[in-house]
Amino acid sequence: MGCSLLASLIVACFFLYVVLASGSPGNLPILAFDEGYNHLFGDDNLVVLRDGKSVHLALDERTGSGFVSQDLYLHGFFSASIKLPADYTAGVVVAFYMSNGDMFEKNHDEIDFEFLGNIRGKEWRIQTNVYGNGSTSVGREERYNLWFDPSEEFHQYSILWTDSQIIFYVDNVPIREFKRTQSMGGDFPSKPMTLYATIWDGSDWATNGGKYRVNYKYAPYIAQFSEFVLHGCSVDPTEHLAKCDIAESSEAIPTGVTPTQRIKMEGFRQKHMTYSYCYDRVRYKAPPPECVINPKEAERLGVFDPVTFGKGRRHHGKRHHRSHNSHAEATSI
Ligand SMILES: *[C@@H]1O[C@H](CO)[C@@H](O)[C@H](O)[C@H]1NC(C)=O
Repeated sequence: MGCSLLASLIVACFFLYVVLASGSPGNLPILAFDEGYNHLFGDDNLVVLRDGKSVHLALDERTGSGFVSQDLYLHGFFSASIKLPADYTAGVVVAFYMSNGDMFEKNHDEIDFEFLGNIRGKEWRIQTNVYGNGSTSVGREERYNLWFDPSEEFHQYSILWTDSQIIFYVDNVPIREFKRTQSMGGDFPSKPMTLYATIWDGSDWATNGGKYRVNYKYAPYIAQFSEFVLHGCSVDPTEHLAKCDIAESSEAIPTGVTPTQRIKMEGFRQKHMTYSYCYDRVRYKAPPPECVINPKEAERLGVFDPVTFGKGRRHHGKRHHRSHNSHAEATSI
């Protein structure tokens, strides 16, 4: 029994190594909802479709909703196809993220995709962010618009997390490469996390400090999720031991964004990035140490509306169903 378990872990790790080293995540196993996730909050606002592979998360005047992965992971590739609610979505926030905030109150890690609804009808914006070891006083947000309408079809949103970098992908195009540097110290996520997907009322958080609130006349707002990929090293929460740690083998660490992907990534960022913390001189007199300042980018991003961020840490996960206003102190546009 022990031997076959070990053998299967070796096979699993080898597979993970092949996937990560190839730099392009294709053909990964797609899980049914019940194979990888559990209901988190929102009662019947979470609906698993009959195929077992797709989920609707609704927000109405009673509650938002969310789900959480059954396992904790240390590194890996995590993905979902998401179709966002259409039309008027001011104040509606959909999030697909990793966090361990429930286990580490003071020094949690987090990797975020956040979709921010907008008064301008269909124009959703995406935000990515990273926190490490409770670094909530240093937000590392970037914002982008998209080259498609994310409420029209499903699109794939993915996170690659290794010991040395985090890459965010949209439809397998890397949009952000976040490299671990010595100077950022503990600010790089390094403890096991679970995956979350949620929809919630961000009236006080996402639209100019409550200027444009969720309008429940248009409810329910429904975000659709499918094609769940949870391809990481799962960790036993009681032992804090990785069953399979890709970081143990240096070969397992991907070489990063391929040259072809890099051209696409840079094209995306030039065209679609609307905000980067690296150029926010209101928040950071000196940019955080990992920032590489590109004068052209600084000039371009300077012409966008300034984004203001409040103080305080954001509360994710289970706390959502107790108070959907718990994000009130965080940020505004
Ligand atoms: C993480 O935070 C804890 C508590 O604040 C601190 O003791 C520890 O040294 C930090 N770890 C790193 C790697 O910075």
